[in-house]
Amino acid sequence: MAAARRPLIAGNWKMNGLVSEGRALTAELMALLNRGARPFEMLVCPPATLVSTISTAARGSVLLIGGQDCHADAKGAFTGDLSAEMLKDAGASAVIVGHSERRTLHGETDQTVRGKAMAAKRAGLTAVICIGETLEQRDAGKTLAVLEAQVLGSVPEASRAANVVVAYEPVWAIGTGRTPSPDDVAAAHTHIRKTLAQRMDNADATRILYGGSVKPENAATLLGLEDVDGALVGGASLKAADFWAIATAIG
Ligand code: PGA
Repeated sequence: MAAARRPLIAGNWKMNGLVSEGRALTAELMALLNRGARPFEMLVCPPATLVSTISTAARGSVLLIGGQDCHADAKGAFTGDLSAEMLKDAGASAVIVGHSERRTLHGETDQTVRGKAMAAKRAGLTAVICIGETLEQRDAGKTLAVLEAQVLGSVPEASRAANVVVAYEPVWAIGTGRTPSPDDVAAAHTHIRKTLAQRMDNADATRILYGGSVKPENAATLLGLEDVDGALVGGASLKAADFWAIATAIG
């Protein structure tokens, strides 16, 4: 990884965590972070109900808080939705957009995701834009073409490294215990960075995370790859010890 890109370890709690659990996990992570400076940033993305609580609990620490999704508009008649401005107001500094569970279960397209990424920028949040191929697309040899189309469709023009992070998450690797080979991850990240250069003038400074079944056991291999600048972690981010082991695999 280039020295200019500070690694980011992001936890996606998905639909997990009541107040007591969220507070306990945050306290454990803060205690670990407080032991000393680390060469990475740590972000946790709890369910929206916990963003305010966790942000307040983490005040004064280096732990960053993010949302898991946002609406493209700032406000309006969108029952059940949350705007990027609301997440910012609740204490978030980032938001995941275009996670495959949103793309698949909520029919989000690249265009939808792009609108959400633009909303994040408008609100002053970092957008963690997720992309990734399905198993069918991989088996058909289309992985790099799919990733290229998703980058061009989901990442707004004139994005900056300061407000955009890309997360490569092969759909078939999420929650399955399976991961692509290190060579395949490296090829995907290199291609994503090359494509990102069409969307921004500082693609080299943009962080590209790998996500999908990242565990303490495979973290050193995956995070040690040249163009991998951190991880987006689902299941293993719910246990402080595992999440910490993944983060510290970076050095
Ligand atoms: P996983 O999920 O680590 O449980 O595979 C990753 C994600 O969905 O972001």
